[in-house]
Amino acid sequence: MKLRTAVGIFIAISFALFLALAASLFRVSELLDRSARDVALAGEGIRIGEELKSTLLTHNRNAFLYSLRGEPWRVDTRREQRREIINILANLRLVTASPEEERIVTELRDQVQIYFDQRRALAEAGVSPLAEYLQISDYVNGVVVEVDRLTALNSARMNLVMAEIDERNALANDLAILLLSLSAGLLLALMAAAYFFAARPLSRLAASVESYGKGESGARVRPTGLTELKEIGASFNAMAERLEQRRQDQLRFVASIAHDLRNPLHSIRLAAEVLTHKIGASGDGGGERELSEMLRRQIRSLDLMLQDLLDTSRIEAGHLDLIRTVRDIRPLVQDAVDLHRSSAELHELILDLPDAPVLCHCDPLRCSQVMNNLLSNAIKYSPNGGVITVRVESGGDNVEISVHDQGIGIDPADLSSIFKPFQRSAATRETIPGIGLGLSVSRRIVEAHGGRLEVISVPGEGSTFTIQLPRAQAEAQMPPLREPLQRPGSERDVRH
Ligand SMILES: Nc1ncnc2c1ncn2[C@@H]1O[C@H](COP(=O)(O)OP(=O)(O)OP(=O)(O)O)[C@@H](O)[C@H]1O
Ligand SMILES: [Mg+2]
Repeated sequence: MKLRTAVGIFIAISFALFLALAASLFRVSELLDRSARDVALAGEGIRIGEELKSTLLTHNRNAFLYSLRGEPWRVDTRREQRREIINILANLRLVTASPEEERIVTELRDQVQIYFDQRRALAEAGVSPLAEYLQISDYVNGVVVEVDRLTALNSARMNLVMAEIDERNALANDLAILLLSLSAGLLLALMAAAYFFAARPLSRLAASVESYGKGESGARVRPTGLTELKEIGASFNAMAERLEQRRQDQLRFVASIAHDLRNPLHSIRLAAEVLTHKIGASGDGGGERELSEMLRRQIRSLDLMLQDLLDTSRIEAGHLDLIRTVRDIRPLVQDAVDLHRSSAELHELILDLPDAPVLCHCDPLRCSQVMNNLLSNAIKYSPNGGVITVRVESGGDNVEISVHDQGIGIDPADLSSIFKPFQRSAATRETIPGIGLGLSVSRRIVEAHGGRLEVISVPGEGSTFTIQLPRAQAEAQMPPLREPLQRPGSERDVRH
């Protein structure tokens, strides 16, 4: 799904939710308003009915007292009260809310009219006040009964409306809870969608790019999430594939050149051997002997460079095959030290080995290659000589082999890059020969054994390279400590 579509859907859902919320609140408040008006009308009906009742009773009492005592001011009061009763009846009609109430109000008006008519008739007939009072009471009662019916009707309506209000309140509460739950659900869904479709794919993308940046050329992105992120992931993968393809082409090219150069180099080497032999047999020509020796050394060093190039291309192409056996690592280390001791005139090589066998599951030729690389570096990068200490320790699950020198050391800024192919520290680039492959090949060999190759160095004081290899658990048939390793052409490994 595209980001724009996702945002559009979210806005549409939020808007719909907001509209639903507004409409339902509006509807509920309208209903409550109507109910409140109904209650007010019913209350007003009851109040006006009671007012009618009391005014009529007062009028009746006033008329009786007038008949009894003949006080003239009561005439005016009675007239005033009659007008009041007519007004009340008119008001009562205004607050009726049903045909039944209308009917009662009409009935009331008729009853009141009868009351006035009868009162006038009795007054004209000249009956005694008591007889008049007794006769007129029936009409008054008729009005009172009608008012009570109206009051009962209004009370019932009031109760009904109150029940309705309760229902609507409950409905409003339910609606609010529903809308709140929907909003919370929407928010949760939004958060989950943001996590699954944006945050997680983004962090995976970042992790893959970071791994790729650190040199993991096989790191790829699994395209997930929003379409835009999938597109970025797919573009990254396509770019990584193209680069990988180009790298493989370059490696194949380097490997084929290195391979093709080895045959003529082999012939040159044989010719140099013959030449050296002939010069040696002639018994003179000191200058030529030195020249032929130099030729042999240069050919050896060229051979080693080609070997490293071939190894590098094999390793980078993932074709490093190890032939591993469980063996004591001590003879292998001792052999490498012996090999270099003969050619290191300025250096003192100290070997510190444990007494007990140190078992490793390793390819002896490849491990010798690593030891030789480290030792040749230790000698090469201590141009003023010094002590080189090689120590083998066995503890826990690991075997540790360290090579410590008192040489020029390595700048902290170069520490991580010197393990990459063709990388050399700035301090040695111009002054000490090398192509920068020994350490990268060595680290890949150690890692292929499931181990680690690390360095600690102080510029001007020296460096310590440490190999950590997993210790072998199984006992194995081991060669004796002094047995020389099967190393075809081992002398070519002395390369400093
Ligand atoms: N013991 C050491 N002391 C100081 N610097 C070292 C040491 N070992 C390696 N380095 C630095 O690390 C760089 C890489 O070493 P590496 O062995 O890979 O290549 P190299 O020695 O330059 O060439 P070669 O491929 O012939 O071995 C060296 O160029 C050097 O700058
Ligand atoms: Mg080296």
